[in-house]
Amino acid sequence: MSSTDQNQEKNKLHYEALYANYPISNILHWINNLDKFLESATTTETSWFGLYQNNFREKIKGKKVLEMGCGDCTNAAVMAALGAEVVANDIASASGEIVRKLNENYTFKYPIKFVEGDFLENKLPSRTFDFVVGKAFLHHLTIPIEKLFLRETARLLKPDGEARFFEPAVNSKVLDEIRWHIPIGGRPSKFNKVDFKKWKEIDPHPDRSFSSKHWKKAGEEFFNDVEIIPVGTLER
Ligand SMILES: C[S@@+](CC[C@H](N)C(=O)[O-])C[C@H]1O[C@@H](n2cnc3c(N)ncnc32)[C@H](O)[C@@H]1O
Repeated sequence: MSSTDQNQEKNKLHYEALYANYPISNILHWINNLDKFLESATTTETSWFGLYQNNFREKIKGKKVLEMGCGDCTNAAVMAALGAEVVANDIASASGEIVRKLNENYTFKYPIKFVEGDFLENKLPSRTFDFVVGKAFLHHLTIPIEKLFLRETARLLKPDGEARFFEPAVNSKVLDEIRWHIPIGGRPSKFNKVDFKKWKEIDPHPDRSFSSKHWKKAGEEFFNDVEIIPVGTLER
């Protein structure tokens, strides 16, 4: 198996398990309290800030939005509850089950559509989407596969469309090394060589660059304008 296939397989295994039997009650709570959710999402939770800043909530109303790597589908549900026509994709079939339950339990103006599997295998018509978004998604791909996904994003967007990706960026190797040496829940310190190696074998992140410079260069290959907006802490 090539390292790219192995990476994909690790992602599928990891996220099928993580989202299996996922309770949708949290998601339903948030989409029934959108103002409260988006207020906290755009002020305190950095992993939402990037997507929803610059009036994203108004911009997507009635628009066609594709979310790549939708995961637990909270974001897909929020966008659909805001009135967007959402197509959600993930390699994990468990995400499709979440979408099914959400559509059953909430009356979206446009029920969420789910496209299962490695998105590159599922060809949608060109120039279909006003927005393509990904949250903590691209950095799960190897660089050659990321390039194919960005090309696919450019193909799927309408000529005046916009892609928004919210990803971690490592801009300092020193800070990043320090980070790896501090253990966090479920991930041992790099000082602990044996356990760290075991953890790495199942971790669904490929070893690759994801500096802000990388994201800019990667985007410039396919898009007219690329803007990198830094959010979050010093560390990532
Ligand atoms: C870190 S999770 C982020 C999930 C969600 N966007 C969020 O912010 O909670 C990365 C997601 O990308 C998905 N993924 C990884 N490789 C993929 C691929 N080739 N095609 C589609 N989805 C993929 C994983 O299954 C996982 O759900």
